[in-house]
Amino acid sequence: MKFASMHLPLIFSVAFPGLAAASSILFSGGTVIGFDSATESLDVIRNGSVLVTNDRIVGVYSRAPSTALPKGTEIIDITDKIISTGFVDTHKHGWQTAFKTLGSNTSLVEYFGRYGQFVTGTIFTADDVYIGQLAGIYEALNGGVTTILDHAHHTWGTAQSNAGLKASIDSGARVFWSYAFAHLTNVNYTVEQQVSDFRDIAKAASFKGTATSLGIAYDSFGPNPNVSEVDVVMGLAKEFNVSVITTHSLQGPWGFDNSPEDVNNLGFLNNSIPIVFSHASFLTNAGASLLRATNQYISITAESEMHYGHTHPHSHLIQDQASLGIDTHFTFSSDILTQARLWLQVTRRLLYAEVLARWEVPANSPMSADQAFLLATRHGGLALRRGDIGVLAVGAKADLVVWDGTSPALLGWNDPVAAIILHASVGDIEHVLVDGKFKKRDFKIAERTYPDIKKRFLKSAKRIQKVMVDTVTPLPRAGDPWPYNELNIGETNTVDTLRGKGKGYGELFLDTGK
Ligand SMILES: *[C@@H]1O[C@H](CO)[C@@H](O)[C@H](O)[C@H]1NC(C)=O
Ligand SMILES: *[C@@H]1O[C@H](CO)[C@@H](O)[C@H](O)[C@H]1NC(C)=O
Ligand SMILES: *[C@@H]1O[C@H](CO)[C@@H](O)[C@H](O)[C@H]1NC(C)=O
Ligand SMILES: *[C@@H]1O[C@H](CO)[C@@H](O)[C@H](O)[C@H]1NC(C)=O
Ligand SMILES: *[C@@H]1O[C@H](CO)[C@@H](O)[C@H](O)[C@H]1NC(C)=O
Ligand SMILES: *[C@@H]1O[C@H](CO)[C@@H](O)[C@H](O)[C@H]1NC(C)=O
Ligand SMILES: [Zn+2]
Repeated sequence: MKFASMHLPLIFSVAFPGLAAASSILFSGGTVIGFDSATESLDVIRNGSVLVTNDRIVGVYSRAPSTALPKGTEIIDITDKIISTGFVDTHKHGWQTAFKTLGSNTSLVEYFGRYGQFVTGTIFTADDVYIGQLAGIYEALNGGVTTILDHAHHTWGTAQSNAGLKASIDSGARVFWSYAFAHLTNVNYTVEQQVSDFRDIAKAASFKGTATSLGIAYDSFGPNPNVSEVDVVMGLAKEFNVSVITTHSLQGPWGFDNSPEDVNNLGFLNNSIPIVFSHASFLTNAGASLLRATNQYISITAESEMHYGHTHPHSHLIQDQASLGIDTHFTFSSDILTQARLWLQVTRRLLYAEVLARWEVPANSPMSADQAFLLATRHGGLALRRGDIGVLAVGAKADLVVWDGTSPALLGWNDPVAAIILHASVGDIEHVLVDGKFKKRDFKIAERTYPDIKKRFLKSAKRIQKVMVDTVTPLPRAGDPWPYNELNIGETNTVDTLRGKGKGYGELFLDTGK
């Protein structure tokens, strides 16, 4: 599919005198999924156009633009297409790309023992971190994810930390790269050294003027925090006014709390810096009230929470303070669209089941495609306290996705939001822009060096996968104690898809090189 591109006749080339060197693009004649900040709701414009100048949306019009266009504006015809804001992923670990498909059956217990930050640090060189992070971000961009909150727990040393940051910057995506402070005895990298390296990174500010910004990831707010360590880490957050603080929060049977209550007890929840609680499985009612009172958000990673077994018993009750995330993209989808769809349907299922459990039949649908779309976009921006991200509106960042409305999956659509949330796939995404720059164009990654990036990544992944497949990791088993509380590890029932006496669980198809 070709995009129509042409330059405007001279008659339009007048205004915007102060922006002589500006670069402008007009997306013309398509269906625009805009956002109306007065009503805080989506605003669909048919046969509309969107004008971008540099990194911002400067005009959203029904029909033709009402003002003269800047000189040299490139016009892209989007007849029969849908233009929307990019998706916002508020929880991801970009470095893990090299593990792709290794964890198709992993549980969280197994994840900690095989794939987590505390056991894999010795396998990854700085080059591996760089190329995995970069390939992972291109994967996200390809799927229309333009903003990523990266919980960067690849910070196993100075070189690996800098490599992950550099990859984030080089990708051109909007990455909230969040340096992870942790007790990394596996690589003998102390929190003290981490603090010193973090200072160097913050002072050098290599991300300044790019779409990447610096955040902090910290998973030891509770239970049993080391208060002086928390003070040191939060002190850095304040000193360098980081863009976000994020934490893995898993309460209930998991006991890996990092709850809103924990952070509040330490005096850091009511913060001018946004704090994102990833998963927030087993969030309490008190925790939800605290999130509302302090305007902090959770990141629901629908697929992850089902794949690993965190579950999300109460997340549907806190959707007013929720955004969507991916988590470990090596185990499943890396696009927020899939997360939005899964979350929509799993929430419907849950709320339908409540009615059925009362021996009644449900009359109405509990959640709309519109709500799923807002969670996937605008709410991610709100979680980061960025009103200019995740919305298509004048003044917002020009982070945009153009959908091919004539693809086999979309053909016949009427409601553009339903078309995206319930019918589209990543393959229907024609263009992706971040800060007004094409990151995907005509269905292809718009980066000249991408073929080389792929080659470098495959070489790195091949080596890492061999190490992973060859390493026999003794894992905790049913009956063993769970290290985070007094519970034991238990076994699930498994299903059998064969008639009669089947083969039970089935196989994994990993190439062991033998
Ligand atoms: C779309 O708007 C343009 C003017 O901006 C007009 O010429 C065209 O006829 C409109 N198309 C439809 C299908 O309404
Ligand atoms: C996944 O499958 C592999 C190979 O069959 C097995 O060793 C591993 O224990 C399984 N993991 C889980 C969590 O079931
Ligand atoms: C960490 O230090 C311990 C004790 O000094 C040593 O045995 C181990 O090899 C070190 N590990 C690494 C990755 O340097
Ligand atoms: C608690 O944190 C402080 C400051 O980082 C550190 O000096 C101390 O060793 C830590 N204590 C424990 C028990 O880890
Ligand atoms: C901190 O950064 C935010 C943007 O991330 C900005 O709005 C705010 O004014 C800054 N605060 C201080 C104290 O510099
Ligand atoms: C948060 O802090 C602000 C001032 O910094 C205060 O006005 C507000 O009441 C506080 N909210 C809560 C829930 O503590
Ligand atoms: Zn995670």
